[in-house]
Amino acid sequence: MRVSINEIKEMKLKKEKIVMLTAYDYSTAKLVDEAGVPLILVGDSLGMVMLGYESTIPVTMDEMIHHTKAVVRGTKQALVIGDMPFMTYHTNISDALRNAARFIQEGGARAVKLEGGVNVAETVKRIVECGIPVMGHIGLTPQSIHQLGGYKVQGKTPEAAERLLKDARALEQAGTFAVVLELVPAPLSRLITQKLSIPTIGIGAGPDCDGQVQVISDLLGLFSDFVPKHAKQYAKLAGTIRAALADHIAEVKAGSFPTAEHSSTIDESLLEELARA
Ligand code: KIV
Repeated sequence: MRVSINEIKEMKLKKEKIVMLTAYDYSTAKLVDEAGVPLILVGDSLGMVMLGYESTIPVTMDEMIHHTKAVVRGTKQALVIGDMPFMTYHTNISDALRNAARFIQEGGARAVKLEGGVNVAETVKRIVECGIPVMGHIGLTPQSIHQLGGYKVQGKTPEAAERLLKDARALEQAGTFAVVLELVPAPLSRLITQKLSIPTIGIGAGPDCDGQVQVISDLLGLFSDFVPKHAKQYAKLAGTIRAALADHIAEVKAGSFPTAEHSSTIDESLLEELARA
């Protein structure tokens, strides 16, 4: 049985910290699922860490659905959330509903996430009314990077902090089951977390959120372009992969790979016959 949104909401009541990680492919999703992580986000961060785009903005619905299907195939227990890409929920409500539905029907996700607060509250309400669970995302919203002027901590002035609180409340009232707080000062995250009945999931938002989300490639040290301040590398897989590749190249060049162990044989008489023919 997969984790439900009710179980996630109960975790807040029980003061049980919620772990959420991104995954973008079958093999990684399987490992994350087997580790017991209850929430897996197929984040549009895949645009940067999987597809090599400069930001999340070029990511399309088709790319998201392709990766969501792979993640769902690799998981048995986690609640898989599809991240709605840039401009797929802004133009009008019917587009937003159709795109949210694609994540559920085609992708096999159980929920969607979208960025914004008061400005998307009506859209969130309509998606939830259609039976699709929605996770909110406020603070640094990477799809608005050009408007925000860079990947900066949000909510630092009294007006900006008040706006964030209003956004969080609007999302809660619209029916989101949880909300991501990205790059929000820790004391403000604590306040928002206390004021909301739904769980907050932080990234660069301090220790007092109800849960934490990390990009898997950052956590595993796989994405070597840059390491965000809020990320902790629990492994350095980029280095491990580089060393493995160097070993493999050296062995192929030296003729020490493959050995008999990695090869197969056939009957010598058959070979002789073939050679004669
Ligand atoms: O796309 C993503 O990975 C995200 C998380 C950082 C929350 O939105």
